[in-house]
Amino acid sequence: MRVPFRNEPFTDFSVTDHIQDFQEALRKVESELGREYMLKIGPDRIETVTKRKSINPSQVNQLVGVVSQADTALAHTAILAASAAFEHWKRVPPAARAKVLYKAAALLRRRKHEFSAWLVFEAGKSWVEADADTAEAIDFLEFYGREMERLAEPQPLVSITGEDNELVYIPLGVGIIIPPWNFPLAIMAGMTMAAVVAGNAVVLKPASATSVVAAKFVELLDEAGLPDGVVNFLPGAGTEIGDFLVEHPLTRFVCFTGSREIGLRIYEKASLAQPDQKWLKRVIAEMGGKDTIIVDEDADLDLAADAITASAFGYAGQKCSACSRAVVHELVYDEVIEKVVERTMKLRLGKAHEEHTDVGPVIDERAYISILKYIEVGRGEGVIVHGGKTGDSSGYFIEPTIVKDVEPYARVAQEEIFGPVLAFIKAANFDAALDIANNTEYGLTGAVISRNRLRLEQAREQFHVGNLYFNRKCTGALVGVHPFGGFNMSGTDSKAGGRDYLLLFTQAKVVSERL
Ligand code: NAD
Ligand code: ALA
Repeated sequence: MRVPFRNEPFTDFSVTDHIQDFQEALRKVESELGREYMLKIGPDRIETVTKRKSINPSQVNQLVGVVSQADTALAHTAILAASAAFEHWKRVPPAARAKVLYKAAALLRRRKHEFSAWLVFEAGKSWVEADADTAEAIDFLEFYGREMERLAEPQPLVSITGEDNELVYIPLGVGIIIPPWNFPLAIMAGMTMAAVVAGNAVVLKPASATSVVAAKFVELLDEAGLPDGVVNFLPGAGTEIGDFLVEHPLTRFVCFTGSREIGLRIYEKASLAQPDQKWLKRVIAEMGGKDTIIVDEDADLDLAADAITASAFGYAGQKCSACSRAVVHELVYDEVIEKVVERTMKLRLGKAHEEHTDVGPVIDERAYISILKYIEVGRGEGVIVHGGKTGDSSGYFIEPTIVKDVEPYARVAQEEIFGPVLAFIKAANFDAALDIANNTEYGLTGAVISRNRLRLEQAREQFHVGNLYFNRKCTGALVGVHPFGGFNMSGTDSKAGGRDYLLLFTQAKVVSERL
C-alpha cells in the first residue's frame, strides 16, 4: 500500500551541509550552461535552424542554453505524434501510469538541488524560491499519481435492482500544455503530468524564457520510462505556434497558465469549431492576479508587515499570488507602512546564485521596462516611500518598491504589474477595505490580518477570491493543502493540487448492464 501523500520538505539553508550541497549543484549546473536543446516529437530529437538563446537574468551576458524553435509544420507533426501515442497510452492502466509519476518524483528528489540550480540560473530564483519550486514539482507528481489511483477505484453510484452500473473516468485525447515562466518547473510539470496521468498525450509548449528547465524535465521523463509521444516537447514562440496549436482540429483540450491577455485569446480561439473537429475543446486557463492583503485596525501589526513583505517581494513579486495591494485601516495605516519599509530595507537585492540574496532579478528586458514604467506611473499616483530604482546593470534588477497613498482605482492598484511593486491604500473601515479588495477584475488570492472573529467571518463570505488566507501571507500555496485557482479574470478556478483537478483532464463514462 502506498504511503499517504505528504508535502516535500523545504531545504533548511541554515544548515552548513545544505549550503555546501547547493553550492556544489550550482557549480555543476554552471559547468553545463550554454548547451543546445532540441525538440522531442515522438521518439525523435529535432534540431531546427531557428534557435532561441536563454539567458541568465542575473547576468545577461551568461548563456543558459540555446533552444531549437518549432514552426507550425513541426507543431502539426507534434500533434500527430501525440494523437498516435494517445491510442496506446490511454489503454495503460491508471496505476501503471501513476508509477511513471512516482518514478519521476523519485528522480527529481534525488537531483533536487540540481534542478533548483537550473531555476536559479534560468529564472533568477533565489535559493529558497528555487527550492520551493522544485519541492512543489515533486508534490504535484506524487499527488496526481495518487489522485489517478483514487479516480480509478469503483465510483459510488446508487444501486438499483436488476442492473449493474459503473462510472469510469476516461481521458480526453490530445492536450496542449502552455505554462508560464514564473514556476518553470512546478507549474509546467504539474500541468503536463496531470494530463498525462489521466491518460492523455500532450504537446508541451514551454514558456520561452525558461525552456531549458522544461527540456531538463522532459529528459527526466525519458529516464522515468514515459513512452515516446506521450509528451512531445515543442519549444517555440507563442506568437508563432500558439494559435496553430490551439486551433488544430485534433486538439481536444488546452491547459494554459499565464496572462489574462493570452488566456482570453486562447479561450476565444478554442471555442470555434474547426472543419473536421469532432468535439468541444476544453480550456483550463489560470491567469493573472491583483492580490490584496487587508489589515484591520486591531491586527497584530508585526504579523501584518511580515505577511505583506513576504507576499509582495518573494521572487521579486513575480507570482500570480503576490500581494500588490495592501489595504490598511486608517488607524494603523502609517504604522504598517513603517514596519513594511523597515523589513523591506533589510531585503538583499542581488544575483540569484548568491547565497544571501532575498530578491533576485526580474525575468527579462521586457518585464524590466514594463515594471519601471509602472514605477513611474506609481510616482504620479502616490508617494514612493521605498525603492523605485534599478540595481546592478549586469542583470534586470529592480529595487523592491513601495508606493503609498494610492487611490483604489489608480492604475497601480488595478493592473497586474508582475514585479516588486507594492501599493498601499488607506481604508476608512473594514467594509470599505473589503470593497476595495473586491474592486479589480481579478480574484485569485487575498489575505486578511485581523484578530476580530466577526470580521474574519465577514471576509470568508465577502472577499471574492479563489484562495483566501487569514493571518498569513497570500503566497505559497501547498499542493494538497491549498488547491489553487482564481475567480473572474483570474481564470477557470481549476484548483491545481486539489481533488477536483484531474477531473478536468477526463470525461466520465457510464455503462449500465441489465442483469
Ligand atoms: P504569458 O501569457 O505571456 O505566456 C504564457 C504562455 O503562453 C507562454 O508559454 C507563452 O509562450 C504562451 N503564449 C504566448 N502567446 C500565445 C498564443 N498566442 N497562443 C498560445 N500561447 C501563447 O504569461 P507569462 O508572462 O509567461 O506568465 C505570467 C502571467 O502568468 C502572469 O499574468 C501571472 O499572473 C500568470 N500566472 C498565473 C498563475 C495562476 O495559477 N493563476 C500562475 C502563474 C502565473
Ligand atoms: N501557487 C503559487 C503560490 O501560491 C503561485 O504562491
